[in-house]
Amino acid sequence: MSIIFIIFFIIFAGTYYYFKQSFTYWKKKNVPYLEPTIPFGNLEKPWDIPLNRQVYNYYNIFKKRGDKHAGYFMMAQPVYFPIGPELVNDILVKDGAYFRDRGAYVNEEAQPLEAHLLLLKGEKWSQLRAKLRPTFTPAKLKMMFNTMLDCTIHLQETFEQLAQINEEFEARELISKFTIDVIGSCAFGIKCNAFKDPNSEFLKYAKLLIEDSKTALKTIFCFSFEKLAKRIGFANTSTPVANFFKKVATDTYNYRIQNNVKRNDFMQILIDMKDKTNNPDPLTMNELLAQSLLFFIAGFDTTSQILSMCLFSLATHSDIQEKLREEVKKVLNKYNGEITYDALQDLKYMEQVINETMRMYPATPLIPRECTQDYTIPSTNVVIEKGTKVFIAHWGLQRDPDYFPDPEKFDPDRFSTENKGNIDPGTYIPWGDGARKCLGVPLAMMKMKICVATLLKDFEFRLNPKTKVPLAFVGYGFVVTVKGGIWLNVKKLS
Ligand code: HEM
Repeated sequence: MSIIFIIFFIIFAGTYYYFKQSFTYWKKKNVPYLEPTIPFGNLEKPWDIPLNRQVYNYYNIFKKRGDKHAGYFMMAQPVYFPIGPELVNDILVKDGAYFRDRGAYVNEEAQPLEAHLLLLKGEKWSQLRAKLRPTFTPAKLKMMFNTMLDCTIHLQETFEQLAQINEEFEARELISKFTIDVIGSCAFGIKCNAFKDPNSEFLKYAKLLIEDSKTALKTIFCFSFEKLAKRIGFANTSTPVANFFKKVATDTYNYRIQNNVKRNDFMQILIDMKDKTNNPDPLTMNELLAQSLLFFIAGFDTTSQILSMCLFSLATHSDIQEKLREEVKKVLNKYNGEITYDALQDLKYMEQVINETMRMYPATPLIPRECTQDYTIPSTNVVIEKGTKVFIAHWGLQRDPDYFPDPEKFDPDRFSTENKGNIDPGTYIPWGDGARKCLGVPLAMMKMKICVATLLKDFEFRLNPKTKVPLAFVGYGFVVTVKGGIWLNVKKLS
């Protein structure tokens, strides 16, 4: 009994000492911080307050104090927290070479499918980014356009039915069926029929994949105790989910090679990168499989979230909804009533609306970085050591009245041709910035414009009282989630 007590005491005392020691980190560096507590550090009630809100609150505290930067603790893990946009821009862009990693948890040994661009670090990331850079050129996007457009048929039908029965719908859930159909067609070369077949295997595993990434405790644990998490064999993606996507992608690859089938999609681009004989640096089979999963992880939940927030913003601003509909009608008239690749390029006001949606509701809770070479913060003698994690609070910057006057107002004109030049570097970063900026921007914009144009040309959206306004968020995943969902009603226009 006494031995158990002694062991227990040693573990307790050791843990206590470890936390107390770790908590001296920012003091020693003379970087301002708030007193952390054991075990969560500066995290407040992580079971209750979502990550985007935590980071937003921290930003505002230090901004009000006039600090240019701050230190933060996620459990015992020190995190550097730039506040001023100039410093943010230095870290992401100007001196981005010192912060090349995202610092996300990845365990390639436990799950080789996670060796994709979003998670990879160092040289492996750099080589893969160079290989994938030409993926979303206008020519390749044009090639994928029709495959994407086909997915709007079920989207349109579903909204027709909802309008007929005047039933409210949850925007993200419904829109995610469109994004699933797009990813199934473009990345895996299969028809998912997410709208028609709610029990589809693809939809089931897609949901599991997203759920895998949303548990607060797992996220905080893997972030704070990376080495321990690796030793235990934690992976972001569970084995059954990874096996499912691996099988779907492998089957598609084998089918196309054996039957000499070519299609206009992302999978074809990957196959060409792997098998084209004149390619000096071809993709390996494992890289191909991991990148098809990437298309999913990076492009599914993010796009559904932004699209649902866009519909929410339009439903709560009928004047802006009407103005955008007018633009859609005018542009489509020019293209014989059809949504074409060129028509999308003319939808300038739509771009403003999407940009403003992403200012108010960026999809990710923060922009993370990891310092990859010791870095001295300009005009100070503070050295950020290699391995230090960095949190950039774009929820704070993008809602800061110093950079966006009247920040709670949804105002797409901030992004008009005349005004967008006034946006300071480092203040608007919903896609991240620098060498690790989202690679899928043109693809995501194409997908979102196709969806919004399809919906606005025929339907009108209104907010349903089931939506809890002001909006609150939940979770710790890669993508933020609205508590209780976005509930809307739709009316067919005559
Ligand atoms: C509205 C939809 C999307 C949003 C809001 C979004 C946002 C982001 C953000 C914030 C990052 C991190 C950037 C940084 O750390 O600086 C990122 C990375 C990335 N995104 Fe997107 N994304 C979207 C759609 C897509 C799509 C459709 C793809 C296509 C596959 C994609 C591919 C990627 C990739 C490959 C990265 C990692 C880049 C790297 O580390 O080199 N994204 N995205």
